[in-house]
Amino acid sequence: MKTTASYLRIIGFMVLAFFLLEFTVESGDTWAIVKYPVIWAVLGLVFVFAIAIEVISETLKSILFRGLNEEAQAKFLAAEEQRKENNWFKNTYKKLLAKKPLEKEEEIVLDHNYDGIRELDNTLPPWWVYMFYATIIFAVVYMVRYHIFDGIDQDQEYEIAVAEARAEIEEYKKTAKDLIDVNTVELLTGKQDIAAGKTVFEANCIACHKVDGGGGIGPNLTDDYWILGGGIKNVFNTVSEGGRDGKGMVAWKTDLKPSEMAQVSSYVLSLHGTTPVDPKEPEGDLWIDPNAPVEEVEVKIIDSTKIQMKIEDQPVTGDVVKE
Ligand code: HEC
Repeated sequence: MKTTASYLRIIGFMVLAFFLLEFTVESGDTWAIVKYPVIWAVLGLVFVFAIAIEVISETLKSILFRGLNEEAQAKFLAAEEQRKENNWFKNTYKKLLAKKPLEKEEEIVLDHNYDGIRELDNTLPPWWVYMFYATIIFAVVYMVRYHIFDGIDQDQEYEIAVAEARAEIEEYKKTAKDLIDVNTVELLTGKQDIAAGKTVFEANCIACHKVDGGGGIGPNLTDDYWILGGGIKNVFNTVSEGGRDGKGMVAWKTDLKPSEMAQVSSYVLSLHGTTPVDPKEPEGDLWIDPNAPVEEVEVKIIDSTKIQMKIEDQPVTGDVVKE
């Protein structure tokens, strides 16, 4: 193990072994070496093995060399020397640097002389020149693609990336139902959601609100009057955060998922207008949905303290509140 070549061979061997193991051992998204630490042991064995091979081949070589007669030894050394001369990497490296050897510097020294300081006229190193050519080719390709033909410029690229991200967010919101909060919740009307809401209601709420929502300990949920506000947003908020302190309506957000709260709230609202068996008296204030279509509300003033309205053809009477 005297040469750089043997070190390089060992490193190459290890890299090869590593990737072979990564490709052949099924480990899902994580690295095989992370998932199965035993691979470290395998690699360690491979390492020892590689060193052994290098040592053995080196020893064999030296034993064989000693067995040769002098003439053959000289021949072998010459061949070895030749092989070093022909080393492709070394030669390419030298070519790319194009350095004049010291002994030939006289050929390129310029004829001016400043107090004994002279200047060498070195050629540009080829590696640098090739890179320069590459930038010229790149510039031409770039100009043709983006300034002559209509390549996408950075602005457009940005717009496209933003549009894609938006679409992904929309998609994510659709699948991630539990992102719902009081600001984004919407009334669900699908049969499945209402049925799911009913299940949640029957499991958690009927003790106080009765199975038909007519009310018991808790208020009637089928009428137009709400203590804490009607409409999906208020109802969702009540279910999530609970009612007023000490009234018995707890916050359900620790027990129910946001999607379940949206379903049960929608179910509660679907009970609106039904007639429970034994309804509790209305409590709270008349709730008028601020988003309801205006033409369906008819207001009749009975006297200075009472008004009557018709909401979706249902007459309701309310007190005039002066503010
Ligand atoms: C322990 C009894 C109890 C349980 C169980 C209960 N509630 Fe209530 N609920 C109440 C009480 C009491 C109120 C009145 C709160 C107040 O006055 O602040 C209330 C109020 C409400 C309101 C607001 C009514 C209004 O007029 O503003 C809604 C909506 C509601 N509950 C839905 C539910 C849902 C949905 C469940 C099941 C997940 C549930 N409740 C479970 C007792 C209960």
